[in-house]
Amino acid sequence: MIELDRAGRSFKVRREVVHAVRDLSFTIAAGEFVGCLGPNGAGKSTTIKMLCGILTPTSGRVRVAGLDPSRRRTTLARRIGVVFGQRTTLWWDLPLRDSFELIRLLYNVDRVAYRSRLDELTETLGLGDFAAKPVRQLSLGQRMRGDLAAALLHAPDVLVLDEPTIGLDVVSKAGIRDFLRRLNSEQGTTVLLTTHDLGDIERLCRRVMLIDHGRLAFDGTLDDLMATAPGRSTIEEVVTRLYTTGRETAR
Ligand SMILES: Nc1ncnc2c1ncn2[C@@H]1O[C@H](COP(=O)(O)OP(=O)(O)OP(=O)(O)O)[C@@H](O)[C@H]1O
Ligand SMILES: [Mg+2]
Repeated sequence: MIELDRAGRSFKVRREVVHAVRDLSFTIAAGEFVGCLGPNGAGKSTTIKMLCGILTPTSGRVRVAGLDPSRRRTTLARRIGVVFGQRTTLWWDLPLRDSFELIRLLYNVDRVAYRSRLDELTETLGLGDFAAKPVRQLSLGQRMRGDLAAALLHAPDVLVLDEPTIGLDVVSKAGIRDFLRRLNSEQGTTVLLTTHDLGDIERLCRRVMLIDHGRLAFDGTLDDLMATAPGRSTIEEVVTRLYTTGRETAR
């Protein structure tokens, strides 16, 4: 479903070149649930942006559902759903349900299919209480649920999430995690998420990737991750060790 082959992305900032992502290779099969960790500035969001075609790689190859995201962005949009936790893709001044209707029109989703999908999402994400409110009046947790629904209205095969639990309280977080787990297990949607919340990784992800300085520093199961630091008992300790050794190696 997702394939990166030595993908890289650099930016020219004045005279300097910033290598945000370098030589990144991995594949994610249909139906997988993968979590991506990495310190601030590691290249996670840049990777996500290449996957949905917002950014073109400056080297290597990226494929999602067999498509080159930056060249086939419109076709890919039918197969992929994207949520940026830090930034809404909804219309600020419109009631949530009007945003959904606009998305239906943009994606040309069949009215009947849309209705049943929206009913299902309204139920599972508990959108009923605030679907009539303009997005700017929603709390962060409500807005995040709205964004999730918006990304899933067209029933994509793959869902990519950049920090979907950022700023959420423990109950909202549990609700979103439960929703994502079921989406993956019951509907077979492939999920890739980035997070700084290690609870997301522990509770959701069968596979963990760690990106550091734009490179893949680890890829394996949570058990494999824990085994990289024998004697360290919590995931916080293991990840702290990986982030600090990564910084030393890069120096
Ligand atoms: N548009 C841009 N122009 C210049 N540099 C950029 C741009 N976007 C990202 N970068 C740089 O690329 C690097 C990776 O950024 P990115 O946003 O991918 O990190 P991240 O892993 O998502 O970090 P965080 O955990 O803080 O969200 C950083 O050094 C950042 O400053
Ligand atoms: Mg980021």
